[in-house]
This record gives sequence, C-alpha cells and structure tokens, in this order.
Amino acid sequence: MKADLLLTDIGQLVTLQGLAEAGPQRGPLDDLPTIADAAVAMADGLIVACGPRAEVEAQVEARLTRSAGGRVVLPGFVDPHTHLPWAGSREGEFAKRLAGMSYAEIAQAGGGIRATMRATRAASLDALLAAARPRLRRMLSHGTTTAEAKSGYGLELEAERRQLEAIAQLDREQPIDLVATNLAAHEIPDEYRQDREAWITKLTDELLPGLKPLAEFCDVFCEDHVFTVEESRRILGRARELGYKLKLHADELVPTGGAELAVELGAVSADHLAKTGPAGIAALAASDTVAVLLPGTSFYLGAKEHAPARAMLEAGVAIALATDANPGSCLTESMPMILTLACVNLRMTPAEAIVAATANAAWAIDRRDRGVLAPGKLADLVVWDAPSWRYLPTHFGVSLVDTVVKRGAVVYDRNQ
Ligand code: NIG
Ligand code: FE
Repeated sequence: MKADLLLTDIGQLVTLQGLAEAGPQRGPLDDLPTIADAAVAMADGLIVACGPRAEVEAQVEARLTRSAGGRVVLPGFVDPHTHLPWAGSREGEFAKRLAGMSYAEIAQAGGGIRATMRATRAASLDALLAAARPRLRRMLSHGTTTAEAKSGYGLELEAERRQLEAIAQLDREQPIDLVATNLAAHEIPDEYRQDREAWITKLTDELLPGLKPLAEFCDVFCEDHVFTVEESRRILGRARELGYKLKLHADELVPTGGAELAVELGAVSADHLAKTGPAGIAALAASDTVAVLLPGTSFYLGAKEHAPARAMLEAGVAIALATDANPGSCLTESMPMILTLACVNLRMTPAEAIVAATANAAWAIDRRDRGVLAPGKLADLVVWDAPSWRYLPTHFGVSLVDTVVKRGAVVYDRNQ
C-alpha cells in the first residue's frame, strides 16, 4: 500500500478507536487504550494504516517518513464552540469585572457583546481576516485541527454576512477546517432595544434566510436579559425549517430551561450548561444532543460554580469541551488550557477530557470523519512533547505541541 507520509517511532499512540463510533462516548472513563512503539500511515489526507510500528511499516511504502521521536500522538483537537471573527478588544471590561461588576451588568450598560458589535460593524472584511489569522495560528500551535466559528457580532445583515464570509475565506486559506454557525441571535442590537419583537421578526424573516448559504448551523444566546426560551424556540424553529442544524447557548448564567429546549428541538449541541439542573441533565442524557462544556468561560468570569460535569457523566450525557474563544467572556485559543480547567474545576478525568476534546467534539459539530485515528478517517493528528497522554492536562499555560499534521500534511512544526 502506498502512503504519502509515514509518521513512525511514536512512543504512545492514542487512537480512541472503539470509543464514540456509533455515537458519542457516554459515561465515566478513567483510562484510554494506547499502543506503544506505533506508526500512522497517511495518503490523500486520510489515514490508511495505524497501529504497532512493525505492522504498519510492513504494509506501506511511504514517499516520506518522519519520526515522532518517541513522543505521544493523539487525534487533533476539535474545538466545537468559538466566536472567531471579531474586531476590537474589551480589556476595560476585564478591569471592571475585577472591581466587582458582573458580566450581565456590563452588558446591560451597553458593553459586552454590543461593544464588540460596534467594532465589528466598523471593520472591513480584510480587517476581520487580519484580526482572525493570528488567532487561528495560535489555535493550530495548541493542537486544534478543526474549529466551529460563529458570527454574532454584526447583528445586522451585512455585518453578519461579512463575518460569515471571513469564516469561509479563512477556511480556504489556512489549515484548520472551519464549520460556520449563524449566531445573529446573539444579542438585541442598540437600535432594537425598545422593540425586541421587531428584531426577532427581522431575524426569522431576513437574517436567517439571507445567511443560510454561508452557515451550516444556527445558534441562539438563550439567557436572562437576552433571548427567552420562548423566543429561542421561535428563532431556532424557523432555522430548522430553513435547513440549519441547531446549537443553543443554554443555562450559562441562570438556569432557564435551555438544555431542555435544545433537546426538544433536536439540536446537535447545547452549550455552556453551567447552571443546568437535574431535569436538563436527564433530558440531555436521553437525547443525541451533545453537551458542549466551556470551563474557560466560568473560570474567566470568576464563577463560583462550574458546569455539573460529574452529574452529567453519571447520567450518561455525551460531553464535549470547547474554548468559547471570544473577546469578552473567554479570551483563549488553547484547548490544552481547557483540558486543565475541565479536570481541575469540572472534576473530569484526563481520559474524559481528552475524549471530550476530540471524538465527542466531532459529534458536537456533526462530523464523523475525524476526532479518532483509524483507517479512512482524516489524518489530523498532533505530536505532543509529553511522557504520556495523562501528562497533558497537568502542564498548563504553555503549549506542548511538537508537530501538527492536518489532512496528512505537516502544518506546524515548533522547530520551524
Ligand atoms: O459564549 N454567551 C454568549 N456569547 C459569548 C460571549 C460573547 C462576548 O461576551 O462577546 C459566550 O460566552
Ligand atoms: Fe459562546
């Protein structure tokens, strides 16, 4: 068998095969199967063989061979919740929060999402692209090979379109695959503050249909002071009619019943869920909706409570992890940092966190071709400068990425 690239001398290979195959992995997990002295062979962007080195090497004739130097190899991270294209910055709000103002109070006073909206409306497509490129480079250097990316800072047709066009252009021009989400229902823009009903009609009649060609998913910020459960149901109901797959920002700051709504609508994912209670957990456990937990956000906002990951795992909820990368409530591109926070604050085990950031995260964006290393899957993998996979969440605030391979090509090498 011919291969374009053979990655060999892998000290510890974690394929995640057998997990999350017919659906996302559910339930507590303490260990991951590993293969010592392994190799992965790739052709045309896909894995053609992976397993013990001697077996793989006997099967393939490789055009190029590369040594992993005895390091650890895992599937590339899938980051299933980011707000990637935005303009401006909000460091002033960070200081206000430290002085005691809450995220909701800052938003009520005209800051928050609406502050980024003003900067994003004023930005050209080129300015949005220039701002997003270094973020994507940082994501890649922290091991992310696929990311979801939301609009939601334009809050008018043309500015939302520019954000989605930026996502499409960035998807074409750099290695990380991007999955686009229309989040026009992220806030009530200033000009509709006195007439939210008119904004919802604008969303259902103009922004959702008008932007459909540019977005696979539609999302709503269902939250106290933003969209109610009833309003979110109307907006996402319309989105579903238009052919969007659904996501929902649910139960982030106050429990509203958002998790139950996501399940009722058959959403692919329900995200945040820091305040979801027993009824929401039971609904998620009995559904195919993936719970995307964002421990960076509760950390960054200084929350005392975090998403009830242990109760969710015990109940059988499928959990994914994401950065929520955005300028206000969680400014990071680092999935490894999210793993550490998931372990320390959400009490997830390293095994649960790694599955949640790879195989289950792929389910959270409805992709079955990645997140696991197996023949026929995308050749998206990361070589880690670590003694074992268990080490990853223990070493935080730095990148231990040695090499990133995307669709069978080396796209990041920390020595170059
Ligand atoms: O996921 N919750 C809503 N949206 C973002 C915050 C966006 C912002 O503050 O700019 C979030 O946390
Ligand atoms: Fe978000």
